[in-house]
Amino acid sequence: MSPRLRHLTTLENLPRETIERLLDRAEALRDACAHGTRKLNVLAGRTVLNLFFEPSTRTRTSFELAARRLGADVINFDIGFSSTSKGEELFDTLHTLEAMHLDAIIVRHKHSGTPDELVHHAMSGVSVINAGDGNRAHPTQGLLDALTIRQHRPDFENLTVVICGDIKHSRVARSDIHAFSALGVKRIRLCGPATLMPAVEEFPHCQHYDDFDAAIEGADAVITLRLQKERMASTDLPDEAAYFTRYGLDQRRLALAAKGCLVMHPGPINRGIEIATEVADGAQSRILEQVGNGVFVRMAVLNEVLAR
Ligand code: NCD
Repeated sequence: MSPRLRHLTTLENLPRETIERLLDRAEALRDACAHGTRKLNVLAGRTVLNLFFEPSTRTRTSFELAARRLGADVINFDIGFSSTSKGEELFDTLHTLEAMHLDAIIVRHKHSGTPDELVHHAMSGVSVINAGDGNRAHPTQGLLDALTIRQHRPDFENLTVVICGDIKHSRVARSDIHAFSALGVKRIRLCGPATLMPAVEEFPHCQHYDDFDAAIEGADAVITLRLQKERMASTDLPDEAAYFTRYGLDQRRLALAAKGCLVMHPGPINRGIEIATEVADGAQSRILEQVGNGVFVRMAVLNEVLAR
């Protein structure tokens, strides 16, 4: 059996067995808590801290719900009101928080690598879970996307999955690619304008496209991404109307995919920019299922790192 994780900062290089264990556990916990209607007490007496240096709606709420459903106590550390805004060093904040005896820190930060720095500098036995660092990793999103696909199409080896949009700045895309590759997906197509694509050498095993019509042909799942303007140089910023024409997922394009193609998006969605309203709200959309799965995946991760 692959060893239990003490931290989760990235899915890169995680064995398939570990990823499958987390997905299986997410489903077992979903059933055990009766889809969220029953509270479990497996983490009673443990304290989890949400340390978010970047805005978040679903990830933060979903980690909080996950921890509460497992019986843990949760503290939300609001950066706007904290001493960090008075210039306190990140590691001083870490050590101050550790002195209060926390069991897990869930961190989101604009700098890639911050979660690993916290692991490195932590003085207590605190577990660190990455809720998104720069453009590098968003491991629980990768897991929940894999779970959502698995619930409809468990035959990963046969799937064609398309990720379209601002892949260069997307930690979601990176964690998705790591998860899907580990689970055996052979055809991962990456599509976007040249300025928003990662270097081919970063993902040599993926197929790189700039034409969305070509990329989506025959696809079993398509994940569209937001233009992450906050991480972009102004020269990379496309005109939104022109972007939708070339890279927006509308009904015409979706018809080029395989029948029943899963439509996914990590949120927040921008209607009329990367996805048309009728597709986002359409019969093939799995976007709200992704959100629902996010809570169970985060329960599984908390359970993994905090198990005694
Ligand atoms: C993503 C993120 O923050 O990386 N959102 C999320 O966690 N669901 C994607 C995004 O911000 O576009």
